[in-house]
Amino acid sequence: MKVISIVGARPQLVKLAPISAAFAGTEHEHFIVHTGQHYDADLSDVFFDGLGIPDPDVHLGVGSGSHGAQTGSVLTALDPVLEREQPDWVLVYGDTNSTIAGALSAVKMHLPVAHLEAGLRSFNRRMPEEHNRVLTDHCADLLLAPTEEAMRHLAAEGLTARSQLAGDVMVDICLRIRDAVLAGEHPAPALPEGIDPTQPFLLATLHRPDNTDDPARLSAILESLAGLPLPVALLAHPRLVSRAEAHGIKLNQGAVHVGRPLPYAGLVAAVLASSGVVTDSGGLQKEAFLLERITTTIRPETEWVETVDTGWNVLVPDPHRMDADTWAATVTRPTPTTDPGTPYGDGHAAENVVRIMEEWKGGSRHA
Ligand code: UD1
Repeated sequence: MKVISIVGARPQLVKLAPISAAFAGTEHEHFIVHTGQHYDADLSDVFFDGLGIPDPDVHLGVGSGSHGAQTGSVLTALDPVLEREQPDWVLVYGDTNSTIAGALSAVKMHLPVAHLEAGLRSFNRRMPEEHNRVLTDHCADLLLAPTEEAMRHLAAEGLTARSQLAGDVMVDICLRIRDAVLAGEHPAPALPEGIDPTQPFLLATLHRPDNTDDPARLSAILESLAGLPLPVALLAHPRLVSRAEAHGIKLNQGAVHVGRPLPYAGLVAAVLASSGVVTDSGGLQKEAFLLERITTTIRPETEWVETVDTGWNVLVPDPHRMDADTWAATVTRPTPTTDPGTPYGDGHAAENVVRIMEEWKGGSRHA
């Protein structure tokens, strides 16, 4: 079986690591296409090196652009690659512009498409990712769902016949790296200047367009972080840096100490060293949950509802509208005492993915 994985943005590289390791243990051919959506070393190269992913077989080098330009560039560059390689499966990941472009290019060539992380929904139509995931689910042949909740969303959209519960491959990689970090196999993370990892601190990230692109909102969120009673290590995504610069907004202020994004093992180590996380990232909400750190999510909703239902994650859409003491008490609240269970699977999801793709070879179930 020949499988082409199409990846391009940081969260997809994290998911690619366990998938590529699972294929490495089989006789299947696994071919990697990097679209080049993320091109900064901090967002791309360090994940290949740090997670032991083989170099991409093809790099499309599309870079940044408007949604249409970025998606269209991936489509244009991908068509000849898929035409030439004729895989048994095209595997697309998550919900980025690279995901929808990969699915669309493949499906138009009648190549079977599998969607990893299918069935997640925010029900927020302002999010570009929501359109990417819904459209990808509806055109893919095999929907690999990470959770029971995702299976329910797929059922509600009439997609049960193409859906399979695989578990969440991010658990596989997160737990593997956690164990390596705890065993001292990775150097200490490069935290922002002014953060002492032996003292309590909060780890923060912010990159969603809804939080970064409106200057008044970005400024207000940053002021809320700046006023917190604990130092805040803000790992700044390029989108945050560029929007803050464009609007003359200072990132380093009050409690906030700005640093660069971390490689995956560094991020896991930083979460483990922190007292809690403040973020708008989907991946980080779940990583904090798996690493047993509380999260406060600056969004009105989450796709990872299990983190909220178990009390580990609290949604605060507008921290600047909250009274300062309540905001501070929320981000420093005590850790829940109830057992969160394993809503995201047992750390063997990538093996499930390979097995399900074998059973569904050709685009429909035959085992
Ligand atoms: C993308 C995904 C998002 C995912 C996120 C993780 C879409 C629609 N969004 O958002 O789902 O959570 O990746 O990081 O696909 N930039 C750089 N260097 C890079 C990459 C981007 O400077 O290596 C800059 C671009 O110039 C642009 C901004 O960051 O201004 C946004 O990049 P883009 O890929 O469009 O979306 P993300 O915000 O990264």
